[in-house]
Amino acid sequence: MARILVTGGAGYIGSHTVVELQESGYDVVVVDNLSNSDVTVIDGIEAITGKRPNFENVDCNDYIGFDKVFDRYPDIVAVIHFAASKAVGESVEKPLLYYRNNIGSLVNLLELMQKHKVNNLVFSSSCTVYGQPDKDHLPVNETAPRKEALSPYGNTKHINEDIIFDQSHANKSLHATILRYFNPIGAHPSALIGELPNGVPNNLLPFITQTAVGLREQLKVFGNDYNTPDGSCIRDYIYVVDLAKAHVLAVNRMLEGKATDKVEVFNLGTGRGLSVLEIVNTFIKVTGVDLPYKIVGRREGDIEKVWADPTKANKVLGWKADTPTDEILLSAWKWELNLKKKRERK
Ligand code: NAD
Ligand code: WQD
Repeated sequence: MARILVTGGAGYIGSHTVVELQESGYDVVVVDNLSNSDVTVIDGIEAITGKRPNFENVDCNDYIGFDKVFDRYPDIVAVIHFAASKAVGESVEKPLLYYRNNIGSLVNLLELMQKHKVNNLVFSSSCTVYGQPDKDHLPVNETAPRKEALSPYGNTKHINEDIIFDQSHANKSLHATILRYFNPIGAHPSALIGELPNGVPNNLLPFITQTAVGLREQLKVFGNDYNTPDGSCIRDYIYVVDLAKAHVLAVNRMLEGKATDKVEVFNLGTGRGLSVLEIVNTFIKVTGVDLPYKIVGRREGDIEKVWADPTKANKVLGWKADTPTDEILLSAWKWELNLKKKRERK
């Protein structure tokens, strides 16, 4: 059976991807140092699929420890690299932690893939590499120019993409698929896995659900004076399960020898832009929860509007993110209620 190594597989997007990989018949080994997750996520994956993925509590920056993982699993045929630090604000305060973690882990991985002759890589990138696309590049497709990063975190994604292009040139056997995610939200329909933000959430959805469940006093909407229909920022909110499925298709494509370039890039979004206030009002509508929120000033570094043109992924990967927003928001709410139940049981 073909085995996929999933770094960061105990994380938000990684755990949902492990579920889809297992349900597609792959064996999986998760490499995760649990710096932003918990081993109970592996329990959640097992509860969903009935199969516990192999789990190695290893830091991708620990070359020797990471090397041993490849020795232990000689049947690895592809890697999906989720492991990274991803908090934009934290990256501004601690840039060196981000460069060490996000660049170092990828360099180790690429060296070990070459050493162990593992030739297929899927890399987690972000629409953040596009910055604020010009109006003639909205919706944004893969030909849109990458822009100067707005944060050290965004810069690590930019640099990582360049490293992958350079290494694919040097290592003739390497195939890579770069997936640029827009805004992943929601949780598995089982509510057994979902987003586990550490501390105060930076992202919109976990802040909404934590406010709705009473963990936070009030949601702050960062600005309603943008050049958008209701004044709040527009994003492309993609269901994390739809996103996970794209990773399986990307792995299949490479393993079946269908990749037409050594490095292929795909924008993973719905193609639908939604404003912050649209998300807030839809959440209130579908959950019936009175969500206290207040319009405040803009958040530094926010871009005004970005959403994907997912045509390439639709056509080439045969993939579409079409889960209705109502359903996605309900999945996030169900997960938050499950977390509340777990807290109350303690
Ligand atoms: P997450 O923090 O939930 O998952 C990352 C996982 O990697 C965590 O389990 C963490 O413990 C692990 N990890 C971090 N550094 C590690 C290391 N050195 N060695 C081993 N494990 C390590 O984040 P996520 O939201 O699931 O994001 C996954 C990937 O997708 C990241 O690369 C992120 O930059 C990218 N991404 C996320 C978003 C988003 O909005 N969530 C958007 C675009 C791109
Ligand atoms: C979405 C919108 C906020 C919180 C970030 C990273 C990006 C990627 C995804 C890793 C914005 C507004 C938010 C709140 C609010 N992560 N908001 N009140 O900023 O689009 O992208 O996460 O790759 O790299 O930059 O996502 O969820 O933080 O914000 O009004 O309490 O919600 O202003 O308009 P963002 P977000």
